[in-house]
Amino acid sequence: MMKKLQDQVLSRRTFAIISHPDAGKTTLTEKLLLFGGAIRDAGTIKAKKTGKFATSDWMEIEKQRGISVTSSVMQFDYDGFKVNILDTPGHQDFSEDTYRTLTAVDSAVMIIDSAKGIEDQTLKLFKVCRMRGIPIFTFINKLDRQGKAPLELLAELEEVLGIESYPMNWPIGMGKEFLGIYDRFNNRIEQFRVDEDKRFVKLNEDGEIEGEHSLKESSLFDQTLEEIMLLDEAGNDFSQERIIDGTLTPVFFGSALTTFGVQTFLDSYLQFAPAPQPRNSTVGEVDPNSEVFSGFIFKIQANMNPAHRDRIAFLRICSGKFERGMTVLLSRTGKTLKLAQSTQFMADDRSTVEEAVAGDIIGLYDSGTYQIGDTIVSGKEGFQYEKLPQFTPELFVRVSAKNVMKQKHFHKGIQQLVQEGAIQLFKTLKTEEYLLGAVGQLQFEVFEARMRNEYNVEVMMERQGSKIARWIEGDNVNENLSSTRSLLVSDRFGKKVFLFENEFALRWFQDKNPEVKLYNPMDVS
Ligand code: G4P
Repeated sequence: MMKKLQDQVLSRRTFAIISHPDAGKTTLTEKLLLFGGAIRDAGTIKAKKTGKFATSDWMEIEKQRGISVTSSVMQFDYDGFKVNILDTPGHQDFSEDTYRTLTAVDSAVMIIDSAKGIEDQTLKLFKVCRMRGIPIFTFINKLDRQGKAPLELLAELEEVLGIESYPMNWPIGMGKEFLGIYDRFNNRIEQFRVDEDKRFVKLNEDGEIEGEHSLKESSLFDQTLEEIMLLDEAGNDFSQERIIDGTLTPVFFGSALTTFGVQTFLDSYLQFAPAPQPRNSTVGEVDPNSEVFSGFIFKIQANMNPAHRDRIAFLRICSGKFERGMTVLLSRTGKTLKLAQSTQFMADDRSTVEEAVAGDIIGLYDSGTYQIGDTIVSGKEGFQYEKLPQFTPELFVRVSAKNVMKQKHFHKGIQQLVQEGAIQLFKTLKTEEYLLGAVGQLQFEVFEARMRNEYNVEVMMERQGSKIARWIEGDNVNENLSSTRSLLVSDRFGKKVFLFENEFALRWFQDKNPEVKLYNPMDVS
């Protein structure tokens, strides 16, 4: 018998992993899927990443890069929960989609390489989570290798990211001398590379080992106990509310490669991570348990194969239950649609989904109907979920059609791809030249390929030196302030934006023109 809708929604945990390339996202994902029984062999996801896996003819660029659309969303069952992991493409395929994915999750897992600490991409993704108040769970990885001192890593979290932390466990040694973790939360010790029956050592009420144990002879263990004392006295208090509101991150240490500390992490994650929450809309907060089915599109994946122009729109379900064949309203246009072709993503394969509830992600076949940010709703009354935020591009190209006779197609293509959210468009003020802005290089490549395949236009792109975009408070500025170092352009909504070559040019401009108040939409106050 079907469980009641509310129970189904309560069992959902939907998250994304934020990390810098090589921190261990693929390895950790794979271990989590193994626990959930969603894959049988380690190596499945890895093989996809490296392109050893046969993928469908989905997206040519993705195929070339060995990324598979099937790993965009992975679902597995564990301990009564249904867990959805959304992929955040990170290597050369880092793009606005990576950011937008974070609008579709209820929490995030941040992986940090213990030897490297906080890296560039982690910081960028962290900011987006912060902006949205998403709870963040931190997994410090690769403890089987020599890394930074744990206290130093905690200090980095606070100083670089500005988030307070609560270590749920603490390492005993590291690298060749890694003995395990002191589990403050479960009041036990979990030993590294020790057989299952002896792996856990229970601690007494004072957090000490009763009786004899080899660990007691170790100076590394003494050091851990001292550090734990320090954390108890001077560290933050554990607070479930602060985890949920995203101001405190629980920190776990482990080694994904050796599957150490992963299950301990998963158990605590599931205990504290939020189930789908109410979301704001034009009709107020929408309860995920509402009978009305609703969701929003956060990503559209185009098929790069010219013979198959279809696309997949990724829908985050925010309330109610999806049933195949149901009729919904597309709020933006007021048109009704029948959701006949839908896909749910699994680790091993795509499969047709018959039913899904709030928290789940489904793929809808799209022949150009949807735009990023669209809301669909069952029933007669349409509403709109909050607009997706604007992300600040960091790469810019000047773009034009190779063949001047193709201007019409060129403009049409750009308008549509920009509207779809594939890329951001800017125009120089007087000359109205087109500049494209992106978060990652892949967006330009996808743009170029789609202009060729879908609009039959070859484009020329010329890389610009500008890297920093800043919007202007009040949108009122003297156009004479525009120069090559601080180029004034307008975005697609007509808002004025300065494009600076580098931090230096930005600071110089601000010193000279203190009356112009610049802002970055991605800055967290
Ligand atoms: P990513 O998806 O975040 O980019 O990282 P991925 O999991 O692919 O891991 C990057 C590298 O780090 C891989 O090594 C992986 O084996 C290694 N790694 C992940 N977790 C751990 C860990 O806990 N300990 C250690 N020592 N290494 C870890 P590689 O040499 O790049 O790839 P491969 O040869 O293992 O395939």
